[in-house]
Amino acid sequence: MKNDEIDTSTRLSTLVLKNPFMLASGIMDEDAGSMIRIAKNGAAAIITKSIGTKQREGYANPTIVEVDCGIINSMGLPNPGIEAYGEEIKLVKKKTSIPIIGSIFGRDEKEFCLLAKKMETYGADAVELNLSCPHAKGYGLEIGSNPEKVGNIVASVKSSISIPLLVKLSPNVTDIVEIAKTAEKNGADIITAVNSVKAMKIDIETGLPVLSNKIGGYSGRAIKPIGVRCVYEISKEVDIPVVGVGGILTAEDAIEYFMAGASAVQIGSAVYYRGVEVFKKLNNELKEWMKRHGYRKLLDIIGLAQKNRRG
Ligand SMILES: Cc1cc2nc3c(=O)[nH]c(=O)nc-3n(C[C@H](O)[C@H](O)[C@H](O)COP(=O)(O)O)c2cc1C
Repeated sequence: MKNDEIDTSTRLSTLVLKNPFMLASGIMDEDAGSMIRIAKNGAAAIITKSIGTKQREGYANPTIVEVDCGIINSMGLPNPGIEAYGEEIKLVKKKTSIPIIGSIFGRDEKEFCLLAKKMETYGADAVELNLSCPHAKGYGLEIGSNPEKVGNIVASVKSSISIPLLVKLSPNVTDIVEIAKTAEKNGADIITAVNSVKAMKIDIETGLPVLSNKIGGYSGRAIKPIGVRCVYEISKEVDIPVVGVGGILTAEDAIEYFMAGASAVQIGSAVYYRGVEVFKKLNNELKEWMKRHGYRKLLDIIGLAQKNRRG
């Protein structure tokens, strides 16, 4: 079997992906130039930086710190605001052919609907609701940990756009499955799991938290088992596709997510560790692994751990 006979394409609702590796929100996706670079390096889709109604500076430095097995960030959702961001999306759409997914954050249904409609008007192929940022007051997790708010926001956004709707969830909740089922019931087309895990680092010489916002979100290798568990639990209970994210550095990491039930994955911190070429590398590594194990289609791996239950 040759590499080009191995099919790693996948589908998420009406989105067709040439391979299962998408760029996660917040990594090299605030301007058109870097998104075009990511597309040229083999990403199957791009999730934009989370965009709000108005420009935000984000928190003061330090906003990011490297720790064992990953990084903790507390950027504070810096972004140019939805009006200014239109040009970036239009430019990326002109220069690339992969799906561009507009990530948005807001305080309430009204803000989310306005942002989603703008993203659709700009030409985004789908919208991802960031209901999971662990460090921005009034946004993200504060909404995403409340099933009633999640249900209302998802239902309102769904009725105001006609492109697919992804809902990105946080692992920092007691029952992520309940939130995923609420999102599905209210019209989500795809679930993304997970955002970063609430964490902090203290400088023991000064006795102070390192990040200016004190608490941030942990990403990278350390959170992979958490993400895999969430995808496994969610996939068992919902009928819509699930996208895995968290700690994927190698194809083997991604394969765990596929076996847990993910139809595709997003790559975040690995872009810092392995460069923008990471998307091409991952797809080649995935094909090599599939060849060695006798799989022709990605579909044959998705959900394997759900089927192969012990006992
Ligand atoms: C610097 C940085 C900025 C991020 N910004 C966003 C964001 O704006 N919106 C969002 O939904 N997730 C954001 N994330 C979370 C990632 O999209 C991803 O869910 C998380 O990093 C876990 O994946 P990873 O371990 O592959 O990095 C950010 C992560 C990092 C490291």
